[in-house]
Amino acid sequence: MQAEYENRRQQLMAKIGNGTAIFRSAPMAVMHNDVEYTFRQDSDFFYLTGFNEPEAVAVLAPHHEEHRFILFVQPKEREKEVWTGYRTGVEEAKKRYGADEAYSIAELAEKLPQYVEKAERIYYHLGRDHAFNETILKLWQRLVATYPKRGIGPMAIEDSNVILHPLRLVKSESELALMRQAAAISVEAHNKARELARPGCYEYEIQAEMERIFRLRGGMGVAYPSIVASGANACVLHYIDNNRQMLDNELLLIDAGCAYDYYNADITRTFPVGNKFTPEQKALYEIVLEAQLQALSQVQPGNPYNAVHDTAVRVITEGLVELGILRGEIDKLIEEEKYKPFYMHRTGHWLGLDVHDVGVYQHGESPHILQAGNVLTVEPGIYIVPNTPNAEDQSEIDPRWIGIGIRIEDDVLVTASGQEILTLGVPKLVAQLEA
Ligand code: GLY
Ligand code: MN
Ligand code: MN
Repeated sequence: MQAEYENRRQQLMAKIGNGTAIFRSAPMAVMHNDVEYTFRQDSDFFYLTGFNEPEAVAVLAPHHEEHRFILFVQPKEREKEVWTGYRTGVEEAKKRYGADEAYSIAELAEKLPQYVEKAERIYYHLGRDHAFNETILKLWQRLVATYPKRGIGPMAIEDSNVILHPLRLVKSESELALMRQAAAISVEAHNKARELARPGCYEYEIQAEMERIFRLRGGMGVAYPSIVASGANACVLHYIDNNRQMLDNELLLIDAGCAYDYYNADITRTFPVGNKFTPEQKALYEIVLEAQLQALSQVQPGNPYNAVHDTAVRVITEGLVELGILRGEIDKLIEEEKYKPFYMHRTGHWLGLDVHDVGVYQHGESPHILQAGNVLTVEPGIYIVPNTPNAEDQSEIDPRWIGIGIRIEDDVLVTASGQEILTLGVPKLVAQLEA
């Protein structure tokens, strides 16, 4: 695996030229009064180093005479380690993580400038660590102020996302192996959930069983807070209370996935709590399913990213017109976004080290063109929200539709010849969901 991190750094350094890139780890995860959250490394930092400790800085300086990859880490300190766990320390950081040089993080102010003062530019992402932003900006300011004396030094800071995130957008085989594992565990949990869900169950019972499986199978835990939403709760997109008792004749929407070795799965299924869909649930479900299948078929190398969403929007709009929930001419309804009160989110996102993974979707006027190694979710839905906001003719929505919320979400890899659906193991056809 070290070879893979090294390879990623090489790829990045090839883009940096005479610049210096600086990456900050995630900070120590303090919840309150000395109680700690589970630490979660910054994804960019992890992608480039595999180093899994807080309070660290990675520097890539391909132009430097001696050191191209430098790590600043927490030094070994027996007392602290007893409380907060093992630290790799400076010496081991060099050996184990392939750094040309390593220092204690306490030496940052003294040692960092030598790697930046001859760089043409600094690659750095202004993140949420404001104190560290300030450190970098002050260093830059100092180098700009002394530039006349040296005639060399960074005249610009460029967002490191611009060079790093295109790499993260194309998954390697070893990344895909982890994503397949995250998907497989999440598939198992969804199938268990469908087996257990019965009228009278509480949403949290289903959540608990799924999250048990995430850990039991070696996952890190949830990729994001699990959504287990019965009945009209499914119309709340980020419903996470998961405390309601589900009833017969209702649907259960479950949006849950696990993280496995930092890589995420993100699956949604909606199915009847009892044995059968009601006619209204089934009519809407079949539209969402058709939208999802057609949108999925757009996931092909060479296709524009937008085609996935546009396809889902068209199928959903046509379906809502057919049911009389929307009225009018299809193209006009789409152009005026009349579907939005019922389908208010996008059809998916990149997936990887982050659930909403990095990478651009649009390059100015041109959409991103899907290429082998991209992984995305495809997740259309319809939500007939009680008191639908912005629906002009709410009073005309037949009450029998109201409170139904449906989403179907799969994770898809673009391959050289087509696609691989990573989450195909959870059934979604009507006949498979009815007992
Ligand atoms: N569960 C987060 C998402 O589907 O985007
Ligand atoms: Mn989801
Ligand atoms: Mn998603």
